[in-house]
Amino acid sequence: MVVEKMAAEKTAAENKRSEIKRIIKDTKSLPTLPGVIAKLGSLADNDKVSMQEMASVVNKDYVLSAKLLKLVNSAFYGFSGRVSTVSNAIILLGVNVIKSLAISSSIFEIMEKNVIGLWEHSMGTAVAANSIAKALKLPEPEEISTAALLHDIGKVIIKINLKEDYNLLSQRIHEKDLMMIEAERELLGTDHAEIGEWLTQTWLLPEKLIEPIAFHHDVKNATVHQDKTAVVHVADVLIKGFGFGFGGDEIVPCIQPAAWDHLSLTEEFLEEIIPEIEEKLVEVMNFSLEVQAGNGATT
Ligand SMILES: [Fe+2]
Ligand SMILES: [Fe+2]
Repeated sequence: MVVEKMAAEKTAAENKRSEIKRIIKDTKSLPTLPGVIAKLGSLADNDKVSMQEMASVVNKDYVLSAKLLKLVNSAFYGFSGRVSTVSNAIILLGVNVIKSLAISSSIFEIMEKNVIGLWEHSMGTAVAANSIAKALKLPEPEEISTAALLHDIGKVIIKINLKEDYNLLSQRIHEKDLMMIEAERELLGTDHAEIGEWLTQTWLLPEKLIEPIAFHHDVKNATVHQDKTAVVHVADVLIKGFGFGFGGDEIVPCIQPAAWDHLSLTEEFLEEIIPEIEEKLVEVMNFSLEVQAGNGATT
């Protein structure tokens, strides 16, 4: 009986995996992204013409411009209150980051209302990733923050498009004391990291953002952007350790050896960086409360 039950669950999970893949391929079923995203899709990073074009596209959308400037001036990127125009934001952060931010701000609008814990977890991870990347003097710290901001985007898709499954997952996590990713693999035959990979591929985001999202739970599988993937992983673990926000489960995993070795981390480094991150999290909390007040959210 137990074997039969396991086999049935395996088939159900395999079917779910195909269903989720279908949902993502059929972009109509995804949360609607503003029309500007499609227009931004073809623009290349580090290209002057693209930057000007992008500024003019984004400027036409007042809501998006305001949201972008708010995000850019928040604790994630360390430009607090200093970026006042979309053009400056694009020059500072590049086309890729702005494109992802435009997508994030639309997705997060849904998160702010439905999954505030996950929104705070994502923002906290972005801030932590930025601090770690800068302290380690890694290239492209802004791209790393952006990947961190989006690392659990797959969970948003599960929550919004597969409500029943989301409830079953929460139940199983609670009953069997699992990490969310373990419960997902059991029930869905895939996990939020892979769903995030499919989604960001559909959105044509650059590989340097896709890979950290796809492998933030399996750093050793990253092949090109190991640094970025490792930082997102470490930031995710630290934020869970701080108990900041809620990513779907209460388990704090260990930092994976692949990440530790790849970044040549030391205990001393972590001891130094932790108070710095904690300080920034106060700002993130204020930002979140401000956003929630603006939305009239209550939890
Ligand atoms: Fe995750
Ligand atoms: Fe996470």
